[in-house]
Amino acid sequence: MKFNYQGIQIFVKDSYEAISEKSAQIVAAQIILKENSVLGLATGSTPIGMYERLVKMYEEGKIDFSEITCFNLDEYYKLKPENEQSYSYYMDKYLFSKVNILSENIYIPSGITDDIEGVCRKYDEEIVNHGNIDLQVLGIGNNGHIGFNEPDIRFEAGTHLVQLDEETIKANARFFDSIDLVPRQAISMGIRNIMHSKKILLLANGENKAKILEKMLFEDVTPNIPASILQLHNDVTIVIDELAAKYIKHRL
Ligand code: PGA
Repeated sequence: MKFNYQGIQIFVKDSYEAISEKSAQIVAAQIILKENSVLGLATGSTPIGMYERLVKMYEEGKIDFSEITCFNLDEYYKLKPENEQSYSYYMDKYLFSKVNILSENIYIPSGITDDIEGVCRKYDEEIVNHGNIDLQVLGIGNNGHIGFNEPDIRFEAGTHLVQLDEETIKANARFFDSIDLVPRQAISMGIRNIMHSKKILLLANGENKAKILEKMLFEDVTPNIPASILQLHNDVTIVIDELAAKYIKHRL
């Protein structure tokens, strides 16, 4: 089922597999239409199925990553890339090691630095030097975060060091052996980086995302619900399952 709400395209699918398939098709279409696309990529559990399908399409010769550049949204502060919980490790595991992307075209903010400000400004510059992101893939946190832009009293524009919310730490503890091991800080692209992307693709799966999706779409734009800023972007596609659409479907 497809809806159009205030210019935002919303696809409601009946399973996680169907979300993964649809989102992989959207990313593949971008790669096919513009072979040197700049992709903004997300981690988390939601896009794993999408990455698996993109790898399959690559293996079948349908898409080619040789001219693609990727910028990741975020990385935990002080986690080494070889740490299995780092987003660098995640991206390698699910995508980069399985397709023909060139290593020099992969950008992930480095959490291993004592010059946070320098890393952040350089990341912003690299994004701008590449002409901004063509297609930004996003998940959404239970608290409305996009990337690690946590609820706040203002929007942070550029790449920055973030103090993670208790809610985010709890939600991400499932990936770690204990909650104490979840880093308390991360480096994240800012809202300007995300909003300057030409297209946005947001994925969400499951009932635990239903409430925040309703808030994101129907409440006023506020830094307290970071994803609400997407109401102001002119090319947003949302791909979700029936459970995540529970509170919005009747309002579309
Ligand atoms: P999830 O994370 O895909 O693991 O639910 C989404 C997010 O926190 O952005």
